[in-house]
Amino acid sequence: MLNNQKVKLLYIIFLIVALLKMVNAAEILDRGIYLPLSDTPFGVRATNAALDTLMPREMPCLDSKSKRPTLNRYGFETTLSDRFSEDWVKKALFYAELGLPSVEIGAAYGQTATLPALAAGATIVANDICPEHLLLLREQVPVDRRSRLILNTEPFPDISFEAGSVGSFLLRSVMHFLAPPEMERGITNIYRWLVPGGEVTISIMSPFHYILKDFLSEYEKRWSTGNLWPGEINDMRTYNPGEADAIPEYLHVMDGRPLIRILEAVGFKIEKEGFFGFPHSRAKDPEGKAYFGIRAVKPKSVKTE
Ligand SMILES: C[S@@+](CC[C@H](N)C(=O)[O-])C[C@H]1O[C@@H](n2cnc3c(N)ncnc32)[C@H](O)[C@@H]1O
Repeated sequence: MLNNQKVKLLYIIFLIVALLKMVNAAEILDRGIYLPLSDTPFGVRATNAALDTLMPREMPCLDSKSKRPTLNRYGFETTLSDRFSEDWVKKALFYAELGLPSVEIGAAYGQTATLPALAAGATIVANDICPEHLLLLREQVPVDRRSRLILNTEPFPDISFEAGSVGSFLLRSVMHFLAPPEMERGITNIYRWLVPGGEVTISIMSPFHYILKDFLSEYEKRWSTGNLWPGEINDMRTYNPGEADAIPEYLHVMDGRPLIRILEAVGFKIEKEGFFGFPHSRAKDPEGKAYFGIRAVKPKSVKTE
């Protein structure tokens, strides 16, 4: 009897291990929603019928600044575009015409980049660690555009894309959740995943953001004393108590200095860079320096591994 029970227990353990191997553990949410297995080299195509059976929560409402909270407390999706995300949307069609997808990392509900790029005719891989975000994004895509949308929930920077397989990347308000080692690995991986001549656009919260007035001098001090990643903040909810429920404690802000250094060290050529702000915060951010954006290109002459 005891032996029988042992055999049953071993069998159950075997089944659980086999099941965990079948799904990407990172895709499992506390609500038990996970995407089907990838059916393309980039993730699961939005036309996959198994996606129709998954029920995400309702999309949260917009706040007074046209921002929508994420479901996993990774801040807000901004529904307002900026000059860097607008350029990326236009270029995504160019890469699609070359047969290459463009990837948005941390796409959330896709409002400012993935949805307009799909509308323009591009092929987009929308990546986000929260499967529900991607399901809500997919719901907004008309059925006849879904074959050009692929969903991916692998956590950046540990994604399994092939070298030289992507035309462009957009990382908008997501890099600032990464610690320096992940940031460095991420930029190195993006360089490898990009086709020669491909590009990456990054925008990030800057240390000149109006809620970080008390942190700016610390940032400058760290940079001037040789800290290559001076923007790490471990008590972000103290700086932003009004949104404490919606943001993580850790944030890694930066301006062009650390970003340009690492991008150039990896081999990128910088094409465009600069600060930007949003109209609703003009009174607090008159110079438009709350965010920093950059576009960098992998030289055409580089050979793919
Ligand atoms: C602040 S929202 C930004 C949404 C959108 N890109 C925008 O510009 O408004 C950050 C998003 O990044 C996702 N995210 C956070 N860390 C991630 C990671 N390591 N890999 C992929 N997505 C991540 C979160 O789930 C969230 O949806």
